[in-house]
Amino acid sequence: MTSNSADEFSIDQLFSLQGKTALVTGGSGGLGLIMAKGLLQNGASVIIASRKQANCDAALAELNQYGAVSAIAADVTKPGDRERLVQAVADKFGSLCILINNAGANWGAELENYPDAGFAKVIDTNLNAVFSLTRDLVPLLSKAASAQDPSRIINIGSMDGIHVPVVQRVPTFAYSASKAALHHLTRTLAVDLAPRHITVNAVAPGFFASRMTDHVFEHYKQDIEDDCPLHRVGNPVEIVGVVIYLAARAGAYTNGTVIPVDGGTSISKGMRSWMD
Ligand SMILES: NC(=O)c1ccc[n+]([C@@H]2O[C@H](COP(=O)([O-])OP(=O)(O)OC[C@H]3O[C@@H](n4cnc5c(N)ncnc54)[C@H](OP(=O)(O)O)[C@@H]3O)[C@@H](O)[C@H]2O)c1
Repeated sequence: MTSNSADEFSIDQLFSLQGKTALVTGGSGGLGLIMAKGLLQNGASVIIASRKQANCDAALAELNQYGAVSAIAADVTKPGDRERLVQAVADKFGSLCILINNAGANWGAELENYPDAGFAKVIDTNLNAVFSLTRDLVPLLSKAASAQDPSRIINIGSMDGIHVPVVQRVPTFAYSASKAALHHLTRTLAVDLAPRHITVNAVAPGFFASRMTDHVFEHYKQDIEDDCPLHRVGNPVEIVGVVIYLAARAGAYTNGTVIPVDGGTSISKGMRSWMD
């Protein structure tokens, strides 16, 4: 059995991200912003990307105090923007240790009124863009990778890719299909990229407060809590903790997994009193 140092099981050895480089897509708001904060607070240098310059600027103003961070206004669904983003990572870091594919979109509508354009937008953002950006960043991820310390790809899926979402009342056909596909893409990429010392895992959050969940929290927060065995929504620290684990020394041998962070909602019927 190999040993790194006398304190190899200390929190610092297991979870420090000192010297690591990271890209967080959709890092200007919601879960992406708190993940970026968590990476910075544990020593990583971070680039965030999102479509709107104003969101990038506001996020930078908040994140600057925590460490070395920069922002690129880029839409991950646009090939030209992805190219600029990959180039920016190459110019800034020269290689990449951690890629967090977090940018996501949702669309809710009844079946009869569910538009093709809405379906396509969600699949494009949550699935196609993740595949294309990941493929184009593999050379930079490979450059930072070693057998003992692989580079990490962390895809932000959803519990809605595990179970059929009903609590928000309005069907989200494309969203749950895109997240289920993303979970399986995670597994196929994990097998494909393992020889290059790159691990690929997904985190499948339950409900956390963000712009994406503003509307459902406003109308169905009680139902969401009833639906969860722990009877509450998630706290930011509970998503950041899992992401840091996957990105750090502690998570180096975890590969091809989908980790639900949903209080048990996706494997339980909860109370579901709201269905009666
Ligand atoms: N919040 C939850 O409860 C929850 C639950 C399960 C899964 N998730 C997943 O977690 C991820 C983050 O969700 P969130 O709740 O934090 O959403 P959010 O509050 O809507 O934030 C989304 C972020 O992504 C950026 N973004 C959106 N489309 C983009 C694109 N095409 N290119 C680049 N950036 C883009 C947005 O900034 P711009 O507008 O500037 O682009 C924003 O920074 C998503 O993948 C979501 O599906 C969230």
